[in-house]
Amino acid sequence: MLPLLLGVLAGASATFAAAATLQPFPFTGIVLDPFLNNNAASPDGSANFDDHGGSYDSRFLPTGPFTYDGITYNLPSSWGSGKNDNVIAMTQVIPLDKPTFIHEIHFLFVTDSNGDGVFSSDSTLNFPDNTSEVLQLQARNWWSWPIINLGAIQTPYNFINNGADKNWNGTHIYQWSTSVTSEKQLESLTLPDLNPDRRLHFFGIAYSPASNPSNPSGPALAIRRTRFTNRWENVGDTRAQVVEVTIANLLPSNALSANNSLNAKHTIEISGSGIKTLTPGIVNRLVPGDQVRVDVLVSGVQDGTNASVEVKDQNGQSLGVSDGWAASALIQNWTPDTNVLTKHETPTWWNNAKYGILQDSIHWGVYSVPAWSPPNSYAEWYNWWLHEDPHDTDNPTFKHHLETYGENVVYDDFIANFTAAKWNASEWLDLFDRAGAKYFVLVTKHHDGYTLFDSGNSTHRSSVYTGPKRDFVAELFETAAREKPHIHRGTFSPDYAKYGFSSWPGGLAHNVFNISELEPYTGELDISDYLTDIQLPHMLQLANQYETEIMWCDIGGPNKTLDFAAQFYTEAFAKGRQVTINNRCGAVPDYSTPEYTSFNAIQATSWESNAGMDPFSYGFNSATNASQYKNGTTLVRTLVDIVSKGGNFLIDVGPTAEGEIIAPMANNLLDTGGWLQHSGGCIYDTHYWFQGSQDTDVVPGANAARFTTTPDTFCIVVFDPPSDGQLVVNKRLPLLPGDEIRFLSTTPGNPLPWTMDASTGKVTVDVTGSASAIRQVQFGWAFQVNFELDA
Ligand SMILES: *[C@@H]1O[C@H](CO)[C@@H](O)[C@H](O)[C@H]1NC(C)=O
Ligand SMILES: *[C@@H]1O[C@H](CO)[C@@H](O)[C@H](O)[C@H]1NC(C)=O
Ligand SMILES: *[C@@H]1O[C@H](CO)[C@@H](O)[C@H](O)[C@H]1NC(C)=O
Ligand SMILES: *[C@@H]1O[C@H](CO)[C@@H](O)[C@H](O)[C@H]1NC(C)=O
Ligand SMILES: *[C@@H]1O[C@H](CO)[C@@H](O)[C@H](O)[C@H]1NC(C)=O
Ligand SMILES: *[C@@H]1O[C@H](CO)[C@@H](O)[C@H](O)[C@H]1NC(C)=O
Ligand SMILES: *[C@@H]1O[C@H](CO)[C@@H](O)[C@H](O)[C@H]1NC(C)=O
Ligand SMILES: *[C@@H]1O[C@H](CO)[C@@H](O)[C@H](O)[C@H]1NC(C)=O
Ligand SMILES: *[C@@H]1O[C@H](CO)[C@@H](O)[C@H](O)[C@H]1NC(C)=O
Ligand SMILES: *[C@@H]1O[C@H](CO)[C@@H](O)[C@H](O)[C@H]1NC(C)=O
Ligand SMILES: *[C@@H]1O[C@H](CO)[C@@H](O)[C@H](O)[C@H]1NC(C)=O
Repeated sequence: MLPLLLGVLAGASATFAAAATLQPFPFTGIVLDPFLNNNAASPDGSANFDDHGGSYDSRFLPTGPFTYDGITYNLPSSWGSGKNDNVIAMTQVIPLDKPTFIHEIHFLFVTDSNGDGVFSSDSTLNFPDNTSEVLQLQARNWWSWPIINLGAIQTPYNFINNGADKNWNGTHIYQWSTSVTSEKQLESLTLPDLNPDRRLHFFGIAYSPASNPSNPSGPALAIRRTRFTNRWENVGDTRAQVVEVTIANLLPSNALSANNSLNAKHTIEISGSGIKTLTPGIVNRLVPGDQVRVDVLVSGVQDGTNASVEVKDQNGQSLGVSDGWAASALIQNWTPDTNVLTKHETPTWWNNAKYGILQDSIHWGVYSVPAWSPPNSYAEWYNWWLHEDPHDTDNPTFKHHLETYGENVVYDDFIANFTAAKWNASEWLDLFDRAGAKYFVLVTKHHDGYTLFDSGNSTHRSSVYTGPKRDFVAELFETAAREKPHIHRGTFSPDYAKYGFSSWPGGLAHNVFNISELEPYTGELDISDYLTDIQLPHMLQLANQYETEIMWCDIGGPNKTLDFAAQFYTEAFAKGRQVTINNRCGAVPDYSTPEYTSFNAIQATSWESNAGMDPFSYGFNSATNASQYKNGTTLVRTLVDIVSKGGNFLIDVGPTAEGEIIAPMANNLLDTGGWLQHSGGCIYDTHYWFQGSQDTDVVPGANAARFTTTPDTFCIVVFDPPSDGQLVVNKRLPLLPGDEIRFLSTTPGNPLPWTMDASTGKVTVDVTGSASAIRQVQFGWAFQVNFELDA
């Protein structure tokens, strides 16, 4: 038997070639054997991974070399038999063989808390001069409910009670890679401190070393990854497949110079059996330590073939070829199979919107009539709070209901007052447009089961058959398509579980004031199966009849999502539309959706943070003071921060029962839109910067900044106006001599003089030339660098 060697196999060696030829992307495993202190898995549940008798079923875990995203980790050759197989972090210092400049570091890890969410823990990078830098690790729980997370290693359940039971929530091990600033050689890594409530477990750590600057100078290029996506674009009459190529310059970031960078229009092409590059990817700038991702548009891809990536310089001269990338064709006919459907992904329009779009989701329905909840709770759940515990007279919603409406009013009596009397779809859309939103998501049915669209013979619990007798989804979508075709349209359709699950709503509510009486469920029709007669038809209707582009589910639970997604995607592909679903439909997510929270670090997979304008509620809550709403400052900062980490921001507004978005909410949206008018170039269509979303080592006198990038530009956005006539960023940015930096405001500014300290990389911009514009701008100060390329 092989000795247990946890960590990673040595990767391709970083061979030193002449300048600007392609080398394999290197990686080296850190041997964790001396630090193993926990047993994660067994075939019978006898391992105690989480300190509460929970563990992985070893039969689902891969053994031996395990490759994910191009990096190979050496997992145990067999799990179980009581041997330790992972490391619980408790400030262990993990040394490298020798101090090394690092390009990227890779982790296979997970936390063992019981619950959902993302937890950040600080580990420390230690350098030979005794300085250190904090690296914030974002870990997720090993299993999740009700939101779907997809790990690098996925198992269907985990053992609980020492193997006596199983928890059937998807159970995972996650992978995360991050850039490491290579200003200094890394000597060791100090793992985070022990947090007994959510211990961090490492199954593998690897690093990709930087290259030594060569002589003569020149970039050290490697293809980090090549991914045949399921995104497409039309090139002429051809439905071209998007291949995502990520190219790295492996030199340490402190080797920054024009000679060590790509700084001209380079093209990236794909070739292989039958593959034709229709539109090459373009890389204009690639500095030491950086990675850039481009889309190459191709045709003729066949599954199971191999592809090569070629980089050419501005004169069409080949800089090298990298081969052996697995090719797979666009999927046209989606089958209801998890393995197929998980290959779906967010479309380009969503990603580009994502790269900085303010979006609006709209919580509007019968709950907008009472429009009330106690502080810290969601007003759109009024029906649920009211019925939560009918015997509990301390229930604030019960008390509020009794005082305001009396005993004789039941929830469905609100339907009559859901009038939409002042609703004007054009005005809403105009507001979203002026707010800078690139898509909206309308709540078409909340957990009270009341639809805002024509739900036909499945249920007449709908605005079409009761109350206002209008099809709001049709009106809003048709108006949007006609008046604001550039704004994408989405729907939110959470589960009203007729059968309920766990303690969630199911069946009819008991009248809170007379428990022996069931409340009416107005509009209900006789159906036999909730999933096949209500849920699936509603989702298909929204997809086919209303042509939603986003299916934003909530909560998950019982679902027919595999059947839905297969039809949704196949139909969309046939009609030339690109659509997406979130991670709350019970299965096959395209993106994750942190709620009223965000991620602290760059996430390479699609994500969207959502929050209400109200600090505690999505639906309109009359008990919240307007002064508590997220103002322009908060909205702009949140948006910029999310975008710099690769996410989208879905900001929610809660209209009144009459259909109005009240002025304080609208004004805050318009403030954000006003800022995007002049600074949107640092938000829309941008990408996070591989080397960091922000400066992690802000010293006195430096400005805390966020970064975004495009093929032609780089942005520095600060949240306080620069003082003393200087913008100072304590991080080496991808700037080269000749680049022009301008302050973005309503009037175009002149280029601002700047310098970079050669030894530390610190960037100083003299902003006095834009002083008055800086004084006029509010919320965020965006400085855009235009790359000066070589001819
Ligand atoms: C780093 O710290 C150690 C222990 O305190 C000390 O021996 C060593 O001289 C220091 N090295 C530098 C470069 O300051
Ligand atoms: C998922 O976890 C939750 C929370 O512990 C639990 O209530 C639920 O039963 C689990 N689901 C399944 C299918 O095991
Ligand atoms: C950069 O490259 C040019 C052209 O090859 C050469 O003349 C120059 O000396 C190089 N500069 C540095 C700093 O290596
Ligand atoms: C693709 O290339 C890799 C590496 O060159 C090779 O191992 C693999 O067998 C190739 N696969 C096919 C289908 O040609
Ligand atoms: C409906 O609106 C009327 C008129 O404003 C009001 O008197 C009544 O209390 C409302 N009823 C409910 C259940 O909201
Ligand atoms: C909706 O608002 C627009 C813009 O203010 C206005 O032109 C239109 O007449 C309104 N429509 C209705 C039905 O009131
Ligand atoms: C709804 O049911 C009625 C009565 O059975 C029927 O006439 C009608 O065609 C049905 N509508 C739809 C959309 O199925
Ligand atoms: C409570 O509801 C039951 C069943 O509808 C009814 O018989 C009874 O009179 C109601 N009690 C009161 C106090 O209204
Ligand atoms: C919902 O989706 C998940 C994931 O595919 C599946 O395990 C579960 O059984 C589904 N629920 C129902 C009731 O179909
Ligand atoms: C809203 O403002 C009023 C008046 O200033 C204050 O009495 C009340 O406590 C505030 N409500 C909340 C929820 O902060
Ligand atoms: C915006 O809201 C934040 C957070 O509540 C607050 O600190 C700031 O003072 C507000 N800005 C303005 C201009 O009201």
